[in-house]
Amino acid sequence: MVSHEAMGAPAAGPEHGGPDGGADILYDFSTNANPLPLPPGLQRALAEADRRHYPDPHYQALCARLAEHHAVAPARVLPTAGSSEAIRRLTLLAHLQGLGTAWVPSPGYGDYAAAAEALGLRVQGWPAPATLLDGLDRAASPALVWLNEPCNPTGVSLPTHFWQTLAEIAWQRGHWLVLDRAYEPLRLEGSDPITGSVAARCWQLWSPNKALGLTGIRAGYVLAPVEAADDLGPRLRALAPSWVLSAEGVQMLLAWWGEEVQGWLQESRRTLEQWRTMQRNLLADLGWAQRATVTPFWLARPPLPARLLGLRLQQLRAAGIKLRDATSFGLPGWVRVATRPPEAQRALALVWHASRWKGEEGDTP
Ligand SMILES: Cc1ncc(COP(=O)(O)O)c(C=O)c1O
Repeated sequence: MVSHEAMGAPAAGPEHGGPDGGADILYDFSTNANPLPLPPGLQRALAEADRRHYPDPHYQALCARLAEHHAVAPARVLPTAGSSEAIRRLTLLAHLQGLGTAWVPSPGYGDYAAAAEALGLRVQGWPAPATLLDGLDRAASPALVWLNEPCNPTGVSLPTHFWQTLAEIAWQRGHWLVLDRAYEPLRLEGSDPITGSVAARCWQLWSPNKALGLTGIRAGYVLAPVEAADDLGPRLRALAPSWVLSAEGVQMLLAWWGEEVQGWLQESRRTLEQWRTMQRNLLADLGWAQRATVTPFWLARPPLPARLLGLRLQQLRAAGIKLRDATSFGLPGWVRVATRPPEAQRALALVWHASRWKGEEGDTP
């Protein structure tokens, strides 16, 4: 048997917020999941998930429901075990189709690069829209292009003219545009800048578990581009295991676009907007620099040298409060914070003050 050491141990994988194997997290600012309690209808639907039988292996009723909502042909709807699984599967398909480069937003969700690296694709980070447009226009061959609107971890939204130009270049050059919609349902201001005709020609990844605060349910779906419905769509489906989606996942997705859930989500966005204002004021009072955002999460920089921030985050974690260190996003000294209820905000302020070291005040980043 060949040991991992002999083969070279596999990489630890991308870093994520949320549970980390340590003590219970009391106040979790480190994941982007909606913290509000679920609507009763959805709780009931989940409790009624039929765990005694396999789901329909073709998920026909689910695909029909989702297709109706998006006004697309059911063949374009491909269930996934969440967008992380979709990212791996789409990267595999791109690799099998001969694409050798993946463009990933930088900073951006770590799974895009991890999936590409695992299959030996060249990873090209795009820190700014102009870098991406220029790079794609000059590319010698079609590439896989990851887009996240609004973007994690920045909470930034790009303008409609960027999307139009990007789409034109991609169509001329044969690039695959993949649009990760994870946070569209949690957009707190402005509106979706992507027009229907641009969206129809992208692979779109939907994963409502973040907006619903149900990240333990691993379920989502891909909408294949119109022109991929007959060829690449079925190929992507063929790469999935049987019953890729669990019974709870089916229930969650069936309920997702329904009136009760969408009404609840609209209310949640209003509450999150108020809580976000409170939280930004509080962090400003603590002296944290903060970037603008359209989502309930954003990048912030506490008034500490980067080398000390890790220690402070460990102290917070020991007190049951978790923030997402942004070092793995290439941003040492920064954290990504998600909007949390007033009680959690008070706890954060208290522990932050209590864990201050002597002489720290004058210590600037
Ligand atoms: C941008 C983005 N896409 C996808 C995911 C993962 O989604 P899922 O839980 O559906 O696998 C995350 C989770 O944090 C994310 O931030």
